[in-house]
Amino acid sequence: MSERDDCAQALDAYRERFGRLLEIQRRVSQEHNLARLPGLVMREVTELLAADRSTLFLFDRQTMALRACFAEGMSGKAIVVPLRMGVIGTAILQRQTINLIDACQHPYFNDEIDAQSGYHTESLLVVPIAGADGQVLGGIELLNTPRGRFSLADEQVVKASAQRLAALDDIDAAAAEREIARLRAQLEFDRGTIFKVDAAAGQLFAVHAEGADSARMSLNMKLGIAGLVALTGEPLLIQDTQGDSRFDASFDRRTGYHTRNILCVPLRDGSDEALGVIQVINCVNGGFTAEDLALLTSVAGVVAIAIDNAHLFHDSDRQFHSLLETLAASIDARDTLTAGHSKRVAQIALGIARELGFAESELDVLEVSALLHDYGKIGIDDAVLKKVGKLDADEFAHMKQHAALTYDILEKIKFSRKYRNVPLIASSHHESLDGKGYPHGYATQEIPFMAKLLTVADVFEALTADRHYRKGMSLEQAYAILDDGIGQKFDGRVVAALRQHLDKGGLDALGLA
Ligand SMILES: [Fe+2]
Repeated sequence: MSERDDCAQALDAYRERFGRLLEIQRRVSQEHNLARLPGLVMREVTELLAADRSTLFLFDRQTMALRACFAEGMSGKAIVVPLRMGVIGTAILQRQTINLIDACQHPYFNDEIDAQSGYHTESLLVVPIAGADGQVLGGIELLNTPRGRFSLADEQVVKASAQRLAALDDIDAAAAEREIARLRAQLEFDRGTIFKVDAAAGQLFAVHAEGADSARMSLNMKLGIAGLVALTGEPLLIQDTQGDSRFDASFDRRTGYHTRNILCVPLRDGSDEALGVIQVINCVNGGFTAEDLALLTSVAGVVAIAIDNAHLFHDSDRQFHSLLETLAASIDARDTLTAGHSKRVAQIALGIARELGFAESELDVLEVSALLHDYGKIGIDDAVLKKVGKLDADEFAHMKQHAALTYDILEKIKFSRKYRNVPLIASSHHESLDGKGYPHGYATQEIPFMAKLLTVADVFEALTADRHYRKGMSLEQAYAILDDGIGQKFDGRVVAALRQHLDKGGLDALGLA
């Protein structure tokens, strides 16, 4: 492969990884759910950087500990590490990335997790995650890149060495040693050997061998990688000797050395005759590369933004709900006769909705509508609102205006998209299936289903709640009234779901049991 091909290949690989990074960024920025975020990020990162295992640690300020909230390649067992422990803690405290080829050698490496799981951590890359305000949010940890192997670029380097050696009249020990030293400046490997061919003896003998006695080192040309390279004149790159039948393990067995990968290149003279081979074994560049580090640092930045956003989102959501509760409470404050009504209607409506299999996001909309359904009562005169006893026709007509007022007021609130139907749902709680309800007199198909649910919850609450001027109706009486209205006023499915909800403990929750 030419240098140009190599370059084009590297550029393609880079483009692909960059594209993947942008894709991660896009997906992460759209995820507002903090619980789902870690899984999403870590699956992508593990694949992007080809790590064997990865963990996202989030910092818990209260316990000053790091909690593994997503660990790829690990069982679901929770890992909690005190901030002051381990490489991850060190990286976070020092706000520094740590990139280790052999993690066990690091003074802060905590081998307890490896000991428990039987896993062996070699290379380790840790990047801290800090929020926009510089506060520590956590860190990402990647373990064991499988890229601890010789690359095609490495092969080019060794081939150049081979050409230089082959051009010599004689390859003596000094020349061989010099060439291995030269290689070492460009490649990271554990052992390098230069063999010369003795065709008559069918042997390869070592001119210079690192880590072994050259004088006594000779190989049968018919065995092993070096022999094969000498015979065929073709270079070989074996990334995993364990799975390769061409590898002759007898040398390792004799010496106790463990050969993981081999790069072997022939020394050919002008007539393409094999003079010998250069062999380098065990690429020690088993760590993550500078490019890996840059990528992971970018991902950590994106994750930090996403966590910040998710917090902001959560905060504004909480703010929105507390505002709603304040609004609902302000009606209770005006209408002391029915204090707590809106909250209880919301509670009952949610119970019915769960029985009917509503999604979580729909439950939010229903809850907001329920809390605000009577908000229009803010515009009803005290004399009518607080009257104990039956209202006359005029008073009742005035009282009925509260539903239309609920719509008018809520419509002026700029609800976000999800809640855009709240004014309609909330204000339709006095509509009736037969079209005789108010404020609009909608027919059954015009009434939002959530409003039908509110109607039943509202009536049930009003009938059964104790007020200070009267006792609440019995459950049987309330059921009889609801059953009576099925088809004309109430949706039968909703009434049935209310009964199921109350049977399953809803009564206890309401204090009606
Ligand atoms: Fe009402």
